[in-house]
Amino acid sequence: MLPLFKKKEWLEEPWDDYKIIGFGSTKGGAGRTTMTIEIASLIAFIKEARVAVIDWDVINPRLTQRAFKSLPLRGQTLVKIITSKDFKKALKNISLHSVSLSPTSKIDVLPALSYEDIDKGIVDEYFNLMYEKPEEYIKRCKELVATLKTEYEYIMNDYPAITWVALGPLSLSINHVRATAGNLVMVVDPSPWSAELLNSNLIHPKLKGLRVGALVVNMVRPAMDAVNWAKSVFSPVCERIEADNFVVLPFDVPLYEAGIGELKSLVSVSVSPLKHKSRSARYLYTLADRFIHDYRDKKCFYIGP
Ligand SMILES: Nc1ncnc2c1ncn2[C@@H]1O[C@H](COP(=O)(O)OP(=O)(O)O)[C@@H](O)[C@H]1O
Ligand SMILES: [Mg+2]
Repeated sequence: MLPLFKKKEWLEEPWDDYKIIGFGSTKGGAGRTTMTIEIASLIAFIKEARVAVIDWDVINPRLTQRAFKSLPLRGQTLVKIITSKDFKKALKNISLHSVSLSPTSKIDVLPALSYEDIDKGIVDEYFNLMYEKPEEYIKRCKELVATLKTEYEYIMNDYPAITWVALGPLSLSINHVRATAGNLVMVVDPSPWSAELLNSNLIHPKLKGLRVGALVVNMVRPAMDAVNWAKSVFSPVCERIEADNFVVLPFDVPLYEAGIGELKSLVSVSVSPLKHKSRSARYLYTLADRFIHDYRDKKCFYIGP
């Protein structure tokens, strides 16, 4: 075991609010941003609820890029608020940008960063705060969520990947999640390594007390053998981390096109999901619906083919 993991345990208290949802994964490109956008848009559509989305992925801000068709040039951003000299005032003045990432509903987005933030060194300040004063950083993240929660019914967090190398030590990643969510959706790729990592003592004990709303095994090859393999390998993981829902999501062309067309088109697959030919859209609809109604009839309710 590396000395890093032997340090004293510091575990933030997670939110006792399943409407504060975080999307995490153990690797990049697993589909966190896609899930965040789809579930946020669906919840806004089904429930007509006010939904705020925070893009925490400062390294790979795809949500910001999709929402604004590029990085914004300037304006209010996550890194500016978190590093603000007068943090209380910055919280008071927050106003998010209402964007349509699906034709049926609008969500309000806090972009991760702007070009100005890179140019003026604000992104550097953000990472300095994170590494040098992790407790202050986490405290500010928590206050940001608390402030937004006074105005929005649902908060959706699009996180960077949770690993021991992503944005710093694993304990920081995990505490970041715990301080900003009460309901974690783990999005994983269908590989044995993802299952192993989630099952391992690196991650599993750190989820203690944090509600895991769903384990989503994403981009499964759309063939029965691959789906059955994903089910058999990941259902024990689902049991172990006590996820409420277990979703197997096949690779889906409309979802892929929503991603690759992200700079040109803002159309998401969450349009009329019940009629939509995409089966994945229906699975996501079921998941969003279960979140809205806070169904916890049994752990690991299965959604998928
Ligand atoms: N189930 C899926 N089927 C097809 N493409 C998908 C699916 N889920 C995600 N994608 C695509 O994969 C790419 C990476 O997804 P993204 O959500 O950006 O991942 P992350 O946020 O975890 O880095 C995007 O182009 C997205 O459109
Ligand atoms: Mg992303």
